[in-house]
Amino acid sequence: MTEVPPVPMPGTRDLFSLDPAVAHLNHGSYGAVPLPVQRAQARLRVEQEQDPDGFFADLPERIGRARARIAAALGGHPDRLALLTNVTEGIAVVLESLPLAEGDEILVTDHGYGAVVRAAERRAAETGAKVCTATIPLDTPDTDGVAERVLAAVGERTRVAVLDLVTSPTARQIATPGLLAALAERGVVTVVDAAHAPGHLPVDLGGAAGGADFWMGNLHKWAFTPRATAVLAVRDRWRPRVRPLMLSWEHDRGFPGHVEWRGTCDYTPWLAAPAGFDLLERLGADRVRAHNEALAAYGGRLLAGRAGLGELPSMPGLAMRAFRLPAGRAETGPDVEELRAEIRRRLDTRVAVTRWPGGGVLRISAQVYNRAEEYLRLAEGIGELLRT
Ligand SMILES: Cc1ncc(COP(=O)(O)O)c(C=O)c1O
Repeated sequence: MTEVPPVPMPGTRDLFSLDPAVAHLNHGSYGAVPLPVQRAQARLRVEQEQDPDGFFADLPERIGRARARIAAALGGHPDRLALLTNVTEGIAVVLESLPLAEGDEILVTDHGYGAVVRAAERRAAETGAKVCTATIPLDTPDTDGVAERVLAAVGERTRVAVLDLVTSPTARQIATPGLLAALAERGVVTVVDAAHAPGHLPVDLGGAAGGADFWMGNLHKWAFTPRATAVLAVRDRWRPRVRPLMLSWEHDRGFPGHVEWRGTCDYTPWLAAPAGFDLLERLGADRVRAHNEALAAYGGRLLAGRAGLGELPSMPGLAMRAFRLPAGRAETGPDVEELRAEIRRRLDTRVAVTRWPGGGVLRISAQVYNRAEEYLRLAEGIGELLRT
């Protein structure tokens, strides 16, 4: 297999304020805010400080306009989608809104994001429900195999399934339209954790929640928006039942305003979020995606070929790749921290590492600011690093 990287998109590296001494191969965790978007937010902050009263006077309407722009980019409807700070908040709102009773089951998978699963566990403990985990072996080859494992874990009392569109540790797809439909047929409420989808994959919410009951996605990972921007899209029948985490002056407006308003706080990330989508469109969202997917695939080939790491099954269009680490590496939290720190110290590289029984998982990302040599540095250094 050839090791030819894609041609870099001219000028894209200068769009970011990233430290050039470090290979930032972990866009998937926290994103990186491009300079034009940082400036858009800085201008909003100046405006806010010039006249706080004036700024706050029509803020809900202004947030509504930002939401409409974001909804248009995601194929959603502005009244069926609320802005949030992040998916961690999104799952809290969803769990707060779902009726759960003693003995009910919330289905998750063993690829689910830790904070999301913990939120489900806490809600289960409060309501007498329990969390059941569908185990998806790392070598499950495709989404049919994944769907089989999820559906096999559905029981009489399964009320809710919380499924990732793209998993964090393993960069693979769980929630497909077919699986969501099969769960709905069984009467299961579906919650899609699409933290990685906006800006990363083509998203069409179909005017509602993308075939799910609830669909939540971060904008600050791949849509170039300031951090603390996310969306929660809600299917019609659930909207009147959404329960905000805090009761605010906007409560009587109902969804989405009552979820969005949390009193006096900094709303500039949401107001600047359209600048992120504008930039993505100026660069050409399809072009960015094609570049990033090709660069991730290139990095994957290097890590598999030169470092001999086992690449896990991926999904089309993804700008992330995940690899199995040797047995004994990154199987515990402290091991993970140590390995990440070593990769940073010895290779000046940032990657995601997640603990996994039998050998942890390392994930790389690709974004327009990354260059082929950064993956080469990792591929050439990681073998030795793992041996010592
Ligand atoms: C799949 C998944 N869900 C949820 C989250 C949580 O996102 P946040 O920290 O922005 O709430 C992440 C973050 O990496 C994620 O990858």
